[in-house]
Amino acid sequence: MTIEEKIGQLVQRMGGRSKALNSRLGPDELAKVRRGEVGSYLHVAGAEPLRELQRVAVEESRLGIPLLFAMDVVHGYRTIFPVPIAMAASWDPAAAREHAVIAARESSAAGLHWTFAPMVDISRDPRWGRIVEGAGEDAYLGSRMAEAQVRGFQGESLSAADTIMAGTKHFGAYGAAEGGRDYAGADIGERAMQEVYLPPFRAAAEAGSASYMTAFNAVDGVPTTANAALLRTILREEWGWNGVLLSDWRAVEELLAHGVAASRSEAAALALRASVDMDMVADVYADDLEAAIAADPALEALLDQAVLRILAVKRDLGLFDDPYKYHDTAREAAVMLAPEHRAAAQLIAERSIVLLKNEAGTLPLARDTGRIALIGALADDPMSQLGSWRARGQVEDVVTLRAALEAAHPDVVYAPGADSRSDDPGGIEAAVAAARGADVIVLAIGEDYDWSGEARSRSSLELPGRQMELFEALAATGKPLVVVLMGGRPLAVPDIAGQADAVLATWLLGIEAGPAIVNTLLGGNNPGGKLPASYPRSTGQVPVHYDHLPSGRPADPDLSKDTARYMDQPITPLYAFGHGLSYTTFDYGEATLSSSRIPADGGSVTVTVPVTNTGTRAGDEVVQLYMRDPVASVSRPVMQLRGFSRVTLQPGQTREVVFTLSSDQFALWSRDGSWLIEPGAIDLMIGSASDAIRARASFEIVGSAKGSIAPAAIATRIQIEGGE
Ligand code: NOJ
Repeated sequence: MTIEEKIGQLVQRMGGRSKALNSRLGPDELAKVRRGEVGSYLHVAGAEPLRELQRVAVEESRLGIPLLFAMDVVHGYRTIFPVPIAMAASWDPAAAREHAVIAARESSAAGLHWTFAPMVDISRDPRWGRIVEGAGEDAYLGSRMAEAQVRGFQGESLSAADTIMAGTKHFGAYGAAEGGRDYAGADIGERAMQEVYLPPFRAAAEAGSASYMTAFNAVDGVPTTANAALLRTILREEWGWNGVLLSDWRAVEELLAHGVAASRSEAAALALRASVDMDMVADVYADDLEAAIAADPALEALLDQAVLRILAVKRDLGLFDDPYKYHDTAREAAVMLAPEHRAAAQLIAERSIVLLKNEAGTLPLARDTGRIALIGALADDPMSQLGSWRARGQVEDVVTLRAALEAAHPDVVYAPGADSRSDDPGGIEAAVAAARGADVIVLAIGEDYDWSGEARSRSSLELPGRQMELFEALAATGKPLVVVLMGGRPLAVPDIAGQADAVLATWLLGIEAGPAIVNTLLGGNNPGGKLPASYPRSTGQVPVHYDHLPSGRPADPDLSKDTARYMDQPITPLYAFGHGLSYTTFDYGEATLSSSRIPADGGSVTVTVPVTNTGTRAGDEVVQLYMRDPVASVSRPVMQLRGFSRVTLQPGQTREVVFTLSSDQFALWSRDGSWLIEPGAIDLMIGSASDAIRARASFEIVGSAKGSIAPAAIATRIQIEGGE
């Protein structure tokens, strides 16, 4: 290969825009492909057009190296599933995996080899609009969702025609952006990096993620795309990962704006030294890497390594054996929106719904409910249910809440009331009039799709527009009021939590949003989701997360004492991490341990908890296991999730959940920079939410030992006993 041909493999160009795919694939672009100047395209799709593009690469370029075709398939390709934070609320990794299997089936049929997903950034700040794309605030839950999706996209073998390469993103601590402002730097300590932000990436690596994307932002002053300590040392050398590392969009060029490179060739050198293999759309490698190599010939060996890694994934995808295997138009036509894909989309949507409040059994609505006033523009907004990354999702594929409720119930009056954008008060009066003649109000409020996602940070977590006014006017009618809270982030809605009779968090649920919500309102689905991120009481309360450090002066409601609390509101969140109710009730028995002492080196412990459905309906409970290390060489969080299982229980049924943990799951990031299992007590807490602990047990670790990988990245073994 000539040096130009090598560099060409490192170049990813845009074949179109995210909303106008393939639109840039004109004669100039094809000429570049013929000259071997391109390794990959993004924002492209379609079995037929991409077959032609691939043909030019394979048949008309000197070396005939196939191209990689990539796209953001984040929560579905044509069949759009719930947004990722919603899927995380299912606490069901199998559901997240299933979604990825289907997304891979559809996108591979459309000629794609590679998705920029899963997005596994942890976020404790819902002001950050991209919280919608990840699994929320917790490293353990985030790790399970990360590995499940990687396995779903990549299947057993990357070379199968219906699997695609995962592009786990955005490596580093993108979710720790200061003030929740997108692209802002993160100032976090090494322990937070290792224990909170990196574990989902590690779990993805263990699951075999073939590629990663770097974060836009800087950590401790070093932009991630030039951060050799993070990328080359931790990801590659310490983790032993050898896949393709891609920059985010123009991130190599942005090294100039970050102020760490004075020229484009310097930016190219920094990124290559950090082991970034592919430059997304900036053309810095394309135009300036050669000059960088001329200035520093040692870079040529790094270029060779990057080329080899890119060629290796092309080989693993089977492209050298058959470059056209992803271009079968008959398969493309057959798989899109297949009935079983739609069915999975509804099931996963139902599993993602969280019942936040249910006063006096308001939900499910009684069979003989008379007129339902359905209020809220979001109830009739199909676009919003497609979320922030809609790939090839189509508005006409979406069944809205309004359409589904009108189909399911004979007497529905609909009024938009107010939406999340306009300031027009006109609709509120009409909505109140509609509500007055009804037996129950179902009010869909929250944020439309464009309030969350990339560059969609907010300074306020309150309901946008005049929706609070609408809520208050409806509450004043005295009619039973069910709130369906939509959107891509936790919102600060204390008045809704206080005054509504029932509240369902339904996020943005994809094409089957309407049927999933209606089935839940009417009792066909008993909600079992749990919050993957805390709901704050106010914007000023963020960041608020359950696994905070203890304080020397724990919060005390008595304001005459100087403690770690606000003067004007409780320190607890509005709804805690892990919170979610059901139409039935569950009882927990006592926790029993396999032993009261385990060795630090190679030990393991089993904790068993019986859970009973004490109500009259079948339902799902997410049994959550938390740990605390009460005395250690560094202060440890008040609790940390270390296991969970979503269990279905029939009325009266008891099942035992058996968690088996290895000693390295209790390790901490020590002051000398390694995983360390320390001697002493470990407290376990089992319950139905981080603020609803129902059983406890403690044991002792004897001796000390080195840990293996980040504890949150290690999956706890779980068995369920007591029948289906
Ligand atoms: C920028 C976003 O940060 C990233 O998540 C996405 O994959 C790329 N654009 C490509 O669309």
